[in-house]
Amino acid sequence: MLLKKITFILLCLAIFVSCSKKNNKETSMDTISTKVDSLLNIMTLQEKIGQMNQYNGFWDVTGPTPKEGNAEAKYQHLKSGMVGSMLNVVGAEENKKIQQIVVEETRLGIPLIIGFDVIHGYKTLSPIPLAESASWDLKAIENSAKVAASEASASGINWTFAPMVDISRDARWGRVMEGAGEDPYLGSLIAKARINGFQGKDLSAKNSIAACAKHFAGYGFIESGREYNGVDMSNSFLHNLVLPPFKAAADADVKTFMNAFNDFNGIPATGNKMLQRDILKGKWNYKGFVISDWASIKEMVSHGYAKDGEAATKYAVNAGSDMDMESYLYVNHIETLVKNGEVKEELIDNAVKRILTVKYELGLFEDPYKYCDTEREKSVVGSKKNHEAVLDMAKKSIVLLKNENQLLPLKKQGLNIAVIGPLANDKHSPLGSWRGKAEDNSAVSLLEGLNAYTGNKITHSKGVKLVEGTPNFINEVKINYTDKTGFSQAIASAKNKDVVIMVLGEHGFQSGEARSRTNLNLPGLQQELLEEIYKVNKNIVLVLMNGRPLTINWADENLPAIVEAWHLGTESGNAIAQVLYGDYNPSGKLPMTFPRSVGQVPIYYNYKNTGRPEPDGDLVFWSHYTDEANTPLYEFGYGLSYTTFEYSDVKLSSKEINSSNNKIEVTVKLTNTGKYEGKEIVQLYIRDLFASTTRPVKELKDFKMVNLKPNESKSVSFTISEKTLEFYSANKKWEAEPGEFSLFIGGSSNTNLKENFTLNR
Ligand code: BGC
Repeated sequence: MLLKKITFILLCLAIFVSCSKKNNKETSMDTISTKVDSLLNIMTLQEKIGQMNQYNGFWDVTGPTPKEGNAEAKYQHLKSGMVGSMLNVVGAEENKKIQQIVVEETRLGIPLIIGFDVIHGYKTLSPIPLAESASWDLKAIENSAKVAASEASASGINWTFAPMVDISRDARWGRVMEGAGEDPYLGSLIAKARINGFQGKDLSAKNSIAACAKHFAGYGFIESGREYNGVDMSNSFLHNLVLPPFKAAADADVKTFMNAFNDFNGIPATGNKMLQRDILKGKWNYKGFVISDWASIKEMVSHGYAKDGEAATKYAVNAGSDMDMESYLYVNHIETLVKNGEVKEELIDNAVKRILTVKYELGLFEDPYKYCDTEREKSVVGSKKNHEAVLDMAKKSIVLLKNENQLLPLKKQGLNIAVIGPLANDKHSPLGSWRGKAEDNSAVSLLEGLNAYTGNKITHSKGVKLVEGTPNFINEVKINYTDKTGFSQAIASAKNKDVVIMVLGEHGFQSGEARSRTNLNLPGLQQELLEEIYKVNKNIVLVLMNGRPLTINWADENLPAIVEAWHLGTESGNAIAQVLYGDYNPSGKLPMTFPRSVGQVPIYYNYKNTGRPEPDGDLVFWSHYTDEANTPLYEFGYGLSYTTFEYSDVKLSSKEINSSNNKIEVTVKLTNTGKYEGKEIVQLYIRDLFASTTRPVKELKDFKMVNLKPNESKSVSFTISEKTLEFYSANKKWEAEPGEFSLFIGGSSNTNLKENFTLNR
């Protein structure tokens, strides 16, 4: 009893220090650190372990629920201070209830940090992250994350498990939909934009939430694109390709990291000390906390790394995993491990310090219920303003892949149009995977978007069923391969129409976690339907909805127009219709290469040259396939506009960077040579011709978004300095090496507009 009283007095003291600063938004890290230390001082080992434990809510699952996950046990743990965080508890009211349990019933009343996968929106959905990345529009992407944070934070959430910053070159992997594509430079900028959007300028503001850079590390390179598979990669590969977006995230002050399911060079990422302690918390001096992925601590047993749960706990804590998501191991084993001396208590203190710091920064100690205001929830979630923002993002995410004879944009009057395809009137699929709390069937379908334009006559037929039943997040999607009963009606409807809009692709739940594919074609009977329709009407605009690059060679060879519309979220149909009718001129560029064949995967623009890059006459001995070209169908950075752009007059302020001249200014003249006002993403690539380790044939180094009216020209400029030329070298550090370089400027990664320069010291 006496002990309880003393601890209570000490806690009041800690809280007094906290409250005395209440109105000072700029509470310094020093003050927070003092508060955390005083709280830590009065915590028992059990209470510390509790802070490192996260449970899934009782209502929602995003992974296999373990048998220990029964509601009663969790409830008891919440009441006894054995839970520091919950995930998947949503809604202001529900979160208030759960927060009240710990704040009012536990000895120290330390508030919970409440996480949720707010990946591309909470209820009003933006496009899937891969689609957003196609906009290359960092401001728009930041704003999209801000909208997501405003809705989530109004519903009791204060932490999102986003952004996923895994670079990937393998379209077979379903989670490419969740990332920013294949390029580490673009990926780093997008990581930063998303983090800034979620966390805002002031993390303690009620509409910002903590972000989480995931999955640390290597997950995007799982072997054969098969979900949860292992990763084996060189140090150079790790540093040059995988780590840059994570480093950018740490530099952007992301509050948390999540480790990964995958084995990394023989040691599961979750128990990987080199990744978490040496690089992240060591070399990068990262101060936030690391959460495991769902049950990934326990899975180290299945990996064949830890012999049992206790060993897994030991490896995870020692490696730097601060919080256990749904393994139920930290609560059961840390105490014994500390008592046996196998885990040092100072590591526990360090983990808890990191977790409490983020809670303080969020302002949870000042007001644990700040995210639980039902009035705010009503006015913010699903607001008109948020719909406008996601519509804007959706338009910017669309990529025009082909447009022969300017078939697009369509005239708004007098056309007879057939709209065909299983996704044309689908209000469920465009929401994509990871759809937060969006209601099923809440997207605007393309048919609805088109019907908002009343000047044309539109007939609609589905043609074929893509999936059986209503797919969801946790079950396998069942594709229809047999039912062709809708073919004849669709074929009849296509005859004698001015234009056919075919809406085909993947269901929204065909990409995402655990949705790896060995084929990248149009699933089910869609290709067959497309070819049948083509026999009666060749004037087809193919609108693709998909979560990954697809092999659409036939469509590219035969159809006049192709629009990449991904899974665009809540306002999908309105965004696509506005693009098809020319109310928005598409400007997106692919963030990931589209292969010709799945056999080319992994395929990417920043490849190495090899020793035999070119054919020598008729000889077969060069780096190629005997049955397919090396080149992709559509390369990274590719995307058309309704207008055309011409690049000319590349000028370099100097041909050399040296001790007296530390930079080169490059300018290029860009002219709009078409009929429409439009935006172009002007891209700068570099090639380091010789280096201590071989370098890619091109690497994106900068880009500018330029808007031009017809016939207008602008000079676009870039600065190249030694910093631009740095890479992780054979000396195991980031540095630029003197020598010759090429620079390339253009509207995609296959531009040939080239100049050379040198770096001399
Ligand atoms: C995913 C994470 C996600 C977590 C919580 C896991 O299956 O890999 O990215 O944040 O579930 O839902």
